[in-house]
Amino acid sequence: MTGPQALADAFTGAFRRDPDGVWHAPGRVNLIGEHTDYNDGLVLPFALGLGVSVAAARRDDGVVEVRSRQAAAAVTAPVDGGPVVSEGWPPDRAWAAYPVGVARVLREHGTGGASLLIDSDLPQGAGLSSSAALECATALALCDLHGVQIDRPELARLAQRAENEQVGVPCGLMDQAASLLCTAGHALMLDCRSGLSAQMPFAPADSGMTLLVVDTRAAHALAGGEYARRRAECEEAASLLGVAALRDVKDLGGALGTLRDPVLRRRVQHVVTENHRVEATIGLLRAGAVPELGAMLSASHLSLRDQFEVSWPEADTAVGAALGAGARGGRMVGGGFGGSVIILTPTDRSDGVRDAVAAAYAERGWEPPEFHEAVPSDGARRVTP
Ligand code: GLA
Repeated sequence: MTGPQALADAFTGAFRRDPDGVWHAPGRVNLIGEHTDYNDGLVLPFALGLGVSVAAARRDDGVVEVRSRQAAAAVTAPVDGGPVVSEGWPPDRAWAAYPVGVARVLREHGTGGASLLIDSDLPQGAGLSSSAALECATALALCDLHGVQIDRPELARLAQRAENEQVGVPCGLMDQAASLLCTAGHALMLDCRSGLSAQMPFAPADSGMTLLVVDTRAAHALAGGEYARRRAECEEAASLLGVAALRDVKDLGGALGTLRDPVLRRRVQHVVTENHRVEATIGLLRAGAVPELGAMLSASHLSLRDQFEVSWPEADTAVGAALGAGARGGRMVGGGFGGSVIILTPTDRSDGVRDAVAAAYAERGWEPPEFHEAVPSDGARRVTP
C-alpha cells in the first residue's frame, strides 16, 4: 500500500478529479473468542497496522464507481439496486460487492453515490478481515461525504448487514466492530449480544512478549459452505436446547447429555468453553499476566481443531512447531479452513520460533509462511485532509 497522498494522486489520475478525502480501516486479529460472535457471545479482537484505504469523492448521480489498485476491473453500480449477491457478478468483480453492498445498505440512512479508489496492504484470504476493512473504510467515507452521522457500533452492524444481505456471507459482528472500534494498545472486549464493548490494555512488549501473526498461506474461503454450516449447526443446537443462542447454555454437562447428535455436542462444547476462555483471558489481561494467555490460546486451538473442526493442516503444524520451540501458546484465528495463526512467544525466543515454523513447513514441502509482528493499532479513521 502507498501513503494517503500517493493514493489521492492515483485517484486524480483514475477519475480526472481530486478526491474529497482518504479513509483507512484496519484488519484484525482475534486474540480469543472464535465462532462465538454469532452465538451472541464474547470476542476479544484487536486492530492491526495493516488495512484498507479508500480515496473517495462524493457523487450526486446515485452511482458508485469503484476501482482498486489491486484489481484491473472497474465496477459501476447504482446505489439503489437489490442485493449484489443476486446479480451474479463475475469473479474478477466479486471484491467490489463489499463497497457496493455497503453503499446500498447505507443509502437507507441517507448516503448516496461516490467514486472510490481502494488500496490494501492486507493479504486477502489470510483470515485478517480484509473484507470487513473494505466495508468499514467505505462506510466511513460514505457517511462523511454525505454528512450522515451514524455512531460506530451501529455502523459496524450496518457493515455486517451489508456482508450478510448484499454479499451473502452469514458472518457475525466481530470483524466490523474490531475495524471500527479498536484503539491502539488495546484489545476490544465485545459482547456480541448487547453490543457493549470495553477497551482492555494489551501491550505484549511490556511483558517481554511478542505476538506473531503467521499467514499460513492456505487461503480460506469464508463464503464456502463450511462456515454457514457451522452457524446452522449452532442454531440447531440452541433450538434443541431451548435457548435463544449457545451463549445461554449455563450447564454444559446437562446440554451435552440432552443432545444426541455427536457433531452438535462437539459444536456446543467448543462455543461454551470458548466463551469461558474469553472471560478467563479478560481476567488475565486485567492482572497483567500476558505470558499466561498462552495456555488459553492453545486450548482454544485444540477446541477449534477437535470440537469445532475448522482448523487446517498448516495451522496445526505452525502451532505445534512454535510450541516445540518455546512459544507460550498459539491458535488459528478467524473463520478457519485457511488463513492465519497467532503465536505468543517470549521476545527472546521469537527468532527461534519463526525458524522452527519455517523448518516444519520446509520439511513438508509447503510454500514458506509469512510472519508479521502484531501491534494492537487504531481503528478506522479519516486520514486526509
Ligand atoms: C469470521 C467471521 C466472524 C467470526 C469469525 C469466527 O471472521 O467474519 O464474524 O464469526 O469468522 O470467529
